[in-house]
Amino acid sequence: MTLPLNPQWTRRRFTRAALAAGLASAAPRALPALPIWPLKKKDKRPPAPEPTRVTGPESLRAHAAARGLLYGAAVVPELLDVEGMATQGTTDGYTQLVGAQAGILVAENAMKWHALRPTPQSFDFSQADRLMRFADLMGQRVRGHNLCWHEGQPSWFKSTATRENARQLLVDHIQSVCTHFRGHIQSWDVVNEAIDPADGRPDGLRKSPWLELVGPDYLELAFLTAAQADPAARLVYNDYGIELDTPENEIKRGQVMLLLRRLKARGVPIHAVGVQSHLQATGPQPGAGLVTFIRDAARLGLDVYITEMDVNTRKLEGGPAIQDTVVAKVYADYLGMVLREPNVPVALTWGLTDAHSWLNTVDQPWVKRADGAPQRPLPFDDALNPTPAFYALRTAIDHAHISQPQPAAAPAPTAAPAANPASEPNPDPNADPNPNDLYKPFPVQGSPTTKPTAPQPHK
Ligand code: G3I
Repeated sequence: MTLPLNPQWTRRRFTRAALAAGLASAAPRALPALPIWPLKKKDKRPPAPEPTRVTGPESLRAHAAARGLLYGAAVVPELLDVEGMATQGTTDGYTQLVGAQAGILVAENAMKWHALRPTPQSFDFSQADRLMRFADLMGQRVRGHNLCWHEGQPSWFKSTATRENARQLLVDHIQSVCTHFRGHIQSWDVVNEAIDPADGRPDGLRKSPWLELVGPDYLELAFLTAAQADPAARLVYNDYGIELDTPENEIKRGQVMLLLRRLKARGVPIHAVGVQSHLQATGPQPGAGLVTFIRDAARLGLDVYITEMDVNTRKLEGGPAIQDTVVAKVYADYLGMVLREPNVPVALTWGLTDAHSWLNTVDQPWVKRADGAPQRPLPFDDALNPTPAFYALRTAIDHAHISQPQPAAAPAPTAAPAANPASEPNPDPNADPNPNDLYKPFPVQGSPTTKPTAPQPHK
């Protein structure tokens, strides 16, 4: 955590501020070097305002924990000074901030297929393992993002995956990844973004490579495989575009709910639905439809995780102060609404600082502001100082429901292993789906071709 170095402060005042801000207690680290300025006995300059207290007991992490909630953020493992943190010597502000503020971490990209699978035969867990080690050092939980998605495949995927081998490929991947991290993951995004009404299927499923190659039971296959490989983890279906009360969002939200009902009706091990929450500073805001969705999820016995919150200011005119004000209000209204629901125990922002937000780093038209200015979508700015969004988040957390301890994860399915999953016939993805034919329970067994790696200690 970087304290503002105010040249008007005395040395004693700086030290007091550092202690008050929790620098000494939030994370094992050295204090930053003290500023050098002439110390005079009688300094006539007006006293500087008290530094804002945002770390230690005043962090988002601590305020969330006090309500029984988990607040966290997506991070880039390459940017974390893991060794420095391990030796209590890091002076890296981003590393300190992540350690101090987040109770749960998720890799923004490092656990996607393209990051983990350099070749069809091999796995590269190096960056994900760094994240796990950091989280262990800081006593943080970790979400796994993600096991099955229509995007993020490695370059070899398209030329390698076929209808004959895709089922096995999916099972092998999930078994190997979940086994590697077994017992260390709070929750897996088992399937990400599988619904797309624009594709026009009666079941709402997106025409993804997995649907094309495996068939509509790929979701069930993914959840069953994950449950067997990492039985303690919560298993999540994660999606976007289901937050608003616009016609498009209402349709998609309805199709996601139907999917959840089908999965539950089939006894598929699923514990939560992730509402990504990539919000907009302008235009319609989330409202009653999302609250109804959250309550419907509760009736199904599902938690709702807020998995990827941020606020896109692309269409908002005005300078940084206006961005900050509007973004803070969007967070306040949104979290003020969803955190009242008792089945919402987890909320993450998609990044912690504006400098690393995908809204400032990806090269896409839907993130570019007309004035060319950077976006300010997160609780800390690019100088690692708290923005008004930080205080909005913290206040909303303070008014959240008090969460009950989460129930233990459901035991792994006990269905007797039957045929090799890969040998099951692939339904024709282009045929009109008959609802009675979808989501057949699918017993999963060990892969004959991939030897799962042994669980790795992360300490
Ligand atoms: O690392 C390369 C860099 O070497 C290269 O110079 C640069 C050129 O554009 O690209 C860099 O890779 C980019 C990577 O982010 C790291 O910044 C990729 O092009 C870019 O496609 C990738 O975007 C990620 C995107 O998912 C696609 O995987 C974003 O960081 C990430 O925030 C975003 O996250 C998704 C969630 O997984 C699912 N929900 C939506 C969310 C936002 O789109």
